[in-house]
Amino acid sequence: MCGIIAVTGSGASVEILTTGLRRLEYRGYDSAGIVLHTRDDGFLRFRAAGGTKSLVALESEAGAFHGEVIAGIGHTRWATHGGPTLFNAHPHFDCGENIAIVHNGIVENFRELKEELLAGGHVFSSETDTEVIAHLIEVQLPFSPSLVDAVASVAKRMRGAMSFVVVGASEPGVIVGFKRMAPMVVGTDGSSWFLASDIPAILDRAGTFFQIEDENLVVLTPKGARMLTLDMVDVPMESFGVDWTLESAERSGFDDFMSKEIFEQPAALRDTLAGRMTRDGLLLLDEQPSDLDLWARVDKVFIVACGTSFHAGMVAKYAIEHWTKIPVELDISSEFRYRDPVVDERTLVVAVSQSGETLDTLAALHEARNLGAQTLAVCNVVGSSMARLADAVLYTRAGPEVGVAATKTHTSQIGALMMLALQLARVKGQLYPQEVRDLYDQLLAVPAKVTEVLGLWDQMRDLAVRYGGCSRFYFIGRHVGYPVALEGALKLKEISYLPAEGYPAGELKHGAIAMLDADAVVFAIATRTRLYEKVMSNVEEVRARNSAVVVIGNPGDESVVSTGETFISVPRLHPLFAPMVDVIPLQMFAYHVARGLGNDADRPRNLAKTVTVE
Ligand code: AGP
Repeated sequence: MCGIIAVTGSGASVEILTTGLRRLEYRGYDSAGIVLHTRDDGFLRFRAAGGTKSLVALESEAGAFHGEVIAGIGHTRWATHGGPTLFNAHPHFDCGENIAIVHNGIVENFRELKEELLAGGHVFSSETDTEVIAHLIEVQLPFSPSLVDAVASVAKRMRGAMSFVVVGASEPGVIVGFKRMAPMVVGTDGSSWFLASDIPAILDRAGTFFQIEDENLVVLTPKGARMLTLDMVDVPMESFGVDWTLESAERSGFDDFMSKEIFEQPAALRDTLAGRMTRDGLLLLDEQPSDLDLWARVDKVFIVACGTSFHAGMVAKYAIEHWTKIPVELDISSEFRYRDPVVDERTLVVAVSQSGETLDTLAALHEARNLGAQTLAVCNVVGSSMARLADAVLYTRAGPEVGVAATKTHTSQIGALMMLALQLARVKGQLYPQEVRDLYDQLLAVPAKVTEVLGLWDQMRDLAVRYGGCSRFYFIGRHVGYPVALEGALKLKEISYLPAEGYPAGELKHGAIAMLDADAVVFAIATRTRLYEKVMSNVEEVRARNSAVVVIGNPGDESVVSTGETFISVPRLHPLFAPMVDVIPLQMFAYHVARGLGNDADRPRNLAKTVTVE
C-alpha cells in the first residue's frame, strides 16, 4: 500500500505534491519522492528515504526549486518489493529517464517481465516491481502514437492489483494513470487536474471529483481529463462532490482507522497471497534462506509470537501438522526464551509479528538463532528488525495498520502462514505440486469471501446494541475455531474493556462453565470445520445454563439456533482457511460494542501498537 499524487495545470507545484503526500502518509512512509516536469530543466527528481523523516527531507530539498512546473507526480512508499531504501524510492525512471512512474500495488508477474527486459539490455536501478513498467513503456513508446497508447499496451501485460501514474518527457503536461483494484481518484478545481490514491490528498484543492473504473486509463492535461478503456474507447466520467472534513477524509470517510482496516481486509489478503506461488507449487519468499534444501530436512517447527499474531500462529499449527506431518510447537514469545526450548539446526523457528519489532518476539528470534535453528520472520513491515535478523522473510502485504487492535494484519498473517504450510508440505514431499496449486487456488478465492462477510456490518452493530450491556462474554471453538475464539475475546477486551474469555469448547465443562448464567453471552464458532458436531454439543451445555447464544455458522445450518438465539452466517471455506472469515464478525462485534460504549477504538487505553519493552 502506497500513496500516489499527480498534478497538471496552472496550480502544479512542489507544495501541492508534498502537501498531498503528507495526507497520504497513512498509506506508508518508508520513502517519499516526486518528479517535476519543469519548463526549463525537463524532468527533475527528488527522493528521500528515512521513515517518517522522508517527507521532511523531501520538502526541504524540492522546496528549493522555484522554476516553473508544468506537471508533477509524487509517491509515499510502503515497501513490498525491495527494502525501504533511497534507490527503491519512487518515482522510477526507464533507462533513458524519459518516463517517470509512481505505483501502488503489486506487479505479480514482474519477475518474468524483468528477465525479459534484462535480456533486452535494460538496466535496472531498483529492486522494485514498479520499475519494469517504466522500462516496458520505454520499449513500447516508439511503436505507439502517444504515451497513453504505450501505457495501454503495457497495462495489458500486467498481472495483479495496482494503480500507477506515468509522465513522459515527450508530452509535457500530460499525465496518464491506470487503475485496477487499487484506489485512484481524479479531482479538479477548474484550472488544475489531479490524480490521487485518496481524496484527502487533494481535498483542499479540488471541488469536483471523478471515480475511475477498474481496468481503465485516465489521461489528464491542463485542459481536462479523459477516461479510456485499454482498447482506447472513451468512457464517460461521472463527477461527484465530497462533504468530508480533511480529518475524516484521511480515513476515507470511515469514522476511525479500525473500521477502515476491517474493510481493507479483502485487499490486504489479496496482496498478501497474490503471485506468491510458482506453477510448481513453490512459495516465493521475500528473502530466501541461503539454502532452501535445509527446509526439506526440518523435523520440527516452532512458532513464536504475541497477542493476535500468536492466534494466527495457532491456526498455522493445525495446518502445518495436517499437511506436513511435522510436529509444531507454539510459544508465547516471552515464555520461549526463559525456558529451555528444544531447538536445533533441524528446527524452523517462525516469528510472527505485524510490526516486526515486538521486543519479546525479537528476543525469541535471537534466542532461536543462538540455538542454531533456521529462522523465518512473517511480518508486515519491510526492513523491520525481525526481517533483518531472520534467515528468511515472508511479508504480509496488508499495508500500514494504524488501529492498535490488529485486524487486517491478522487475516493476512493467516493467509501467509497457510502458504508457508503448503510450501513445507511441498518440500517435505507430503503434497504433490498439483495438490499445492489446487489449495493455493482455493486460498486465492478467500478475499472474495471476506468481502461477503463484510456485509454483516449492520447485523453485528445490532448485535452489539443487544448484548453490549452484558457483563461477561465467552468465545468457544474447537480445532481452528479455538484460535478464532481467543482472537474474538482479545478484540473485545482490547477495545471495550469488558471481561471476555476464549476457550476450547470442549474444555468449558472443566471449570469455566461455572461462570455461565443468564447474564453471560457465549459466541460459538461452529462453522463446518473438523469438529462441528462436537461444538454444537458444547452449545447444548451452554443453553442449559441460560446464557445467550450466538452461533457463527455456515449457510444451511441456520436451524441450529433456538428461539431468541442468533445465527451469524459466514461463507463455508476449506476448514483450514475458515478462520480468515470466521474471525471477521467478531472483529466487527468488538468494534461496535466499543463504539457503543463511547471508547476510542483506534487508541484503546493502556495499549500501544508496538510493544518494544519486555
Ligand atoms: C492485537 O490487537 C494487539 N495489539 C497485540 O496483541 C499485538 O498483536 C501484539 O502486541 C503483537 O504485536 P506484533 O504482531 O506487532 O508482534
